[in-house]
Amino acid sequence: MSKVDVLLGLQWGDEGKGKVVDVLTPQYDVIARFQGGPNAGHTLEFEGIKHVLHIIPSGIFHKQKINVIGNGVLIEPRIFMQEVDALKEKGIEPTHNLYISKKAHLILPSHRMLDAANEQAKGNAKIGSTLKGIGPAYTDKIARTGIRVGDITQFDFREHYELLKVQHLQMAHTLNFDITSFRIDGMSLDEYEALWMQSLETLKQFKFINSEYFINRCLDEGKKVLAEGAQGSMLDIDFGSYPFVTSSSTITAGVCSGLGVAPSRIGRVMGITKAYCTRVGAGPFPTELFDETGAKLCQIGHEYGATTGRSRRCGWIDIPALRYACMLNGVTDLFVTKPDVMNDFEEVKMCTHYMIDGQPTDEIPFEFNSVEITPVLESFPGWKQELSKATKYDELPAQLLHYLYTIEKITGVNIMAVSISPDRKDVLFK
Ligand code: IMP
Repeated sequence: MSKVDVLLGLQWGDEGKGKVVDVLTPQYDVIARFQGGPNAGHTLEFEGIKHVLHIIPSGIFHKQKINVIGNGVLIEPRIFMQEVDALKEKGIEPTHNLYISKKAHLILPSHRMLDAANEQAKGNAKIGSTLKGIGPAYTDKIARTGIRVGDITQFDFREHYELLKVQHLQMAHTLNFDITSFRIDGMSLDEYEALWMQSLETLKQFKFINSEYFINRCLDEGKKVLAEGAQGSMLDIDFGSYPFVTSSSTITAGVCSGLGVAPSRIGRVMGITKAYCTRVGAGPFPTELFDETGAKLCQIGHEYGATTGRSRRCGWIDIPALRYACMLNGVTDLFVTKPDVMNDFEEVKMCTHYMIDGQPTDEIPFEFNSVEITPVLESFPGWKQELSKATKYDELPAQLLHYLYTIEKITGVNIMAVSISPDRKDVLFK
């Protein structure tokens, strides 16, 4: 009997999960997404071409692997259709190896409108949502009013849809939101809705499954399953920097509820961290750099959102946050990405702990958003060279190996691999 291995981000998202899943996919039979939705943007690069996935698991480029969109995921049919079309244009036919849980919830156009209305109502306290409708769609799921993929083939689907839409319009009205000037991709709500409805036909071409039975059967048969996380642990609805979080469970626990597997069936937990840190959207970020070094990380690291195009906030690696994420997830292996972004840095810094009210701490405080946090930084000499010459982990420059060793020592978790370029071939396993 196999177990589900988990791969997830340990920071505020954008750790390079798409690439890592793609690299690990050959070792697995099934790749499954368990939470999030089109707020994610998983970038993969191979043979000189860049691919961005939002809802579809990153194993889709491997024809013989099954990809599953689990019950914990949200699907926006039009974005899904566009993603399918983009794959088809590149010669990839996902209809045969992508299965969708009947219990995955749908994002309606009016959820996207409500996302905008909620953000507008927040004024200066905006979360910086990707505006894909994530918060409102998960709200309906929890309120037991949502619509699931399996419902679209039911006779009362349209009635259910209209009821929910009316509720959403009323809520937007209460928030004083100007519905008439609201646009999605330049279209009014009605125009977008017509296309959204057409996109359901694309969705219906896929196999709808009871993914909990499917995944558990695969495990019974000894198949290898990889659960692919989206966003990052510090954006988790319970443990992230609430309310500046996403609306799903981004940690290992989310795999159990988002795929229907028991905790005892979780195997390895591979946590991804960048060699530095980024965050997109609002909320606390203790190691954020507002100087030239931050700008340099952003520019060399191409730190612009794959979903929204927004530039990401950049800073040094935050060990208290990383240790917290390792604890919450039960991380068994670390995967470090993008040290190459700092190749020409004279020095590289690491936040080992925080100072709060004059006291040192290595814990994330409840008052994370409101208290003044001073990061305590340790300086490391830069490696000042290209990493492309290294073909094995041990061949990396000594300064970088020392930096990586320090991460292992402080987190107590072994590094399994380092990624040294966006290309799928540039991964050095330890
Ligand atoms: P939402 O999930 O679109 O509601 O956004 C909530 C917060 O999570 C915002 O700060 C977003 O910028 C952030 N966020 C959502 N998805 C991602 C992601 O895939 N990568 C990084 N940040 C994300």
